[in-house]
Amino acid sequence: MAYTGTAAGSYAEVYAGWKADPEGFWMQAAQDIDWDKTPSTALNASRAPFYEWFTDGMVNTCWNAVDRHVEAGRGSQLAIIHDSPVTRTKHSITYEELRNRVASLAGALRAKGVEKGDRVLIYMPMVPEALEAMLACARLGAIHSVVFGGFAANELAVRIDDCKPKAIIAASCGIEPSRVIHYKPLLDGAIEMAAHKPDFCVIFQREQEVAKLIEGRDVSWHGFQYGVEPADCVPVSGDHPAYILYTSGTTGAPKGVVRPTGGHLVALNWTMKNVYNVEAGDVFWAASDVGWVVGHSYICYGPLIAGCTTVVFEGKPVGTPDAGTFWRVIAEHKVKSFFTAPTALRAIKRVDPQAKLMADYDLRHLQALYLAGERADPDTINWAKDALKIPVIDHWWQTETGWAIAANPLGIEELPIKIGSPSVPMPGYDVQVLDEGGHPVPAGTLGAIAVKLPLPPGTLPTLWNAEERFKKSYLTTFPGYYETGDAGYIDEDGYLYIMARTDDVINVAGHRLSTGAMEEVLAGHPDVAECAVIGVADALKGQSPLGFLCLNSGSDRAEADVIKECVALVRDKIGPVADFKRACVVDRLPKTRSGKILRSTMVKIADSEPFKAPATIEDPTVLNEIKTALQTLGLAQG
Ligand code: COA
Ligand code: AMP
Repeated sequence: MAYTGTAAGSYAEVYAGWKADPEGFWMQAAQDIDWDKTPSTALNASRAPFYEWFTDGMVNTCWNAVDRHVEAGRGSQLAIIHDSPVTRTKHSITYEELRNRVASLAGALRAKGVEKGDRVLIYMPMVPEALEAMLACARLGAIHSVVFGGFAANELAVRIDDCKPKAIIAASCGIEPSRVIHYKPLLDGAIEMAAHKPDFCVIFQREQEVAKLIEGRDVSWHGFQYGVEPADCVPVSGDHPAYILYTSGTTGAPKGVVRPTGGHLVALNWTMKNVYNVEAGDVFWAASDVGWVVGHSYICYGPLIAGCTTVVFEGKPVGTPDAGTFWRVIAEHKVKSFFTAPTALRAIKRVDPQAKLMADYDLRHLQALYLAGERADPDTINWAKDALKIPVIDHWWQTETGWAIAANPLGIEELPIKIGSPSVPMPGYDVQVLDEGGHPVPAGTLGAIAVKLPLPPGTLPTLWNAEERFKKSYLTTFPGYYETGDAGYIDEDGYLYIMARTDDVINVAGHRLSTGAMEEVLAGHPDVAECAVIGVADALKGQSPLGFLCLNSGSDRAEADVIKECVALVRDKIGPVADFKRACVVDRLPKTRSGKILRSTMVKIADSEPFKAPATIEDPTVLNEIKTALQTLGLAQG
């Protein structure tokens, strides 16, 4: 549904312009990219419902993100600012230095056999070298897959086996406020577990921990670059995968979202001006992690493609060293557009409710704050708006899309902000709310949110090695549409409201996690006969996972011991990022007569919301047992 606001604002014109001529719109946007061969058409629908963009263009991402800015005379402008309160260091890299460093790293990778189309897995914390590794792959046309540092060895192994990397680039360690994360043993463990073995690993030794290299397999980041010829940019076709990024689905097997090169460049470049209102020379900061899609799009590629300075921040919103850190970074580096997750603001607000620490900093360069990754609750938005006195823009997107489906496009026009809504669809997205039969519902009616095919440039054309899974996950429920997995509604003015997921995905501190994956791990505990994991409301993290365990009949184990072991098992198999810390033992789970576990009813009970036992429930009395178990954990107070 198009934006129907009555103002003759330019957003309405831009959106209508896209709708009238989608191909013309994107061909026009493509002119801001340097092509080795200009594409002759925008959309390639020859394999519908698998769509591609700019297929016959030839282009290189690294050239567009780095070299072209040097060629244009901006070599001495800062490309990256690394601000690391956890190591108490800061340093900056100019575009010219970045080009030289990336060309050298790419040359060394090439000398060891990495070529266009090869996969390279990257396992690194928030250091500039993580971006350099991504860009070096892009320079060669190699396909990178970055894995977040908070995942355990097992998750790393699953990704190694799926994308079969020729090389792995890792740091010796990451640094959390409370501990050093020993990446190298995790990496070695993962390679040991995986059936696929990389040809070699490149280890970036950090001074906080020097890792032991395995002879014959591992090379050191600096050592292997010695004496190599720097590599030039290798042109690739528009549909060539730039990267694979794994994200949570319904089962334990993560989905490998594929990002195509041409559309990625065009779409991200378009968003920098139109959504985030920044241009070459401006400072842009996304306080996320390179392991997530926000890190790919808006720590690495988007700001660099647009010639901005990007901030790589290695710290937390609180405790590194205090709740004023974000404001310090913004003031010190003159950040113009800032992007974070609502949970980070909730963490700051909890420690500094009056935003007193903000007063210590000059924030005059900051023009807007952007929020995404989870639902932005009105309290948090209002707190930030009152304290910062700038627009606070909620925008909605997913790993799959790589950029905003809905936003308030400040670079086009600041639309009236409706708190609780990520505003309106961006050009490229024909967003519809559908009922169970796939029919559009009237304004204000809740339904499944879907996007009419084709999706715009930069979004996923498929899943890595899993075309059938792609179709089944996204294209089957509503033929002709992409199923977002989110439910919500559109109001009379065309504003979207995102209310909940329709699947087993939960969002913990802005991190997307699968309850199905946690259930698979719990089911592997020898004393667990059956289990369910739900996401319960959490004042800081948005949602928090909670497990229900039914023990094998005759089990004489102490419940507390089994719970402790289950918590440790999820941490060990999925990683600390799962944040699985709470579980309870129950005799049985509430189920429908056909055996489906009633997770959404359990969520309502836990969150003290009104609930009705579904008509299909096998035995309604089990709900009282669930409520009692939840009350022992301080939940279900209603
Ligand atoms: N490497 C290793 N471990 C990591 C990690 C990483 N990169 N990131 C987080 N972890 C660990 C944490 O140390 C923590 O471990 P613990 O259980 O031993 O304490 C666990 O994973 C959970 O981390 P997190 O959910 O981040 O909780 P926290 O209590 O450390 O911090 C917030 C809470 C709100 C401050 C933090 O989650 C935050 O800044 N969130 C913003 C998230 C974000 O930017 N998301 C990107 C989407 S835009
Ligand atoms: P991820 O793929 O990790 O970016 O997570 C995507 C999911 O996070 C979406 O499908 C939504 O469920 C949720 N999400 C992201 N941004 C928002 C937002 N602005 N409002 C509500 N939910 C959001």
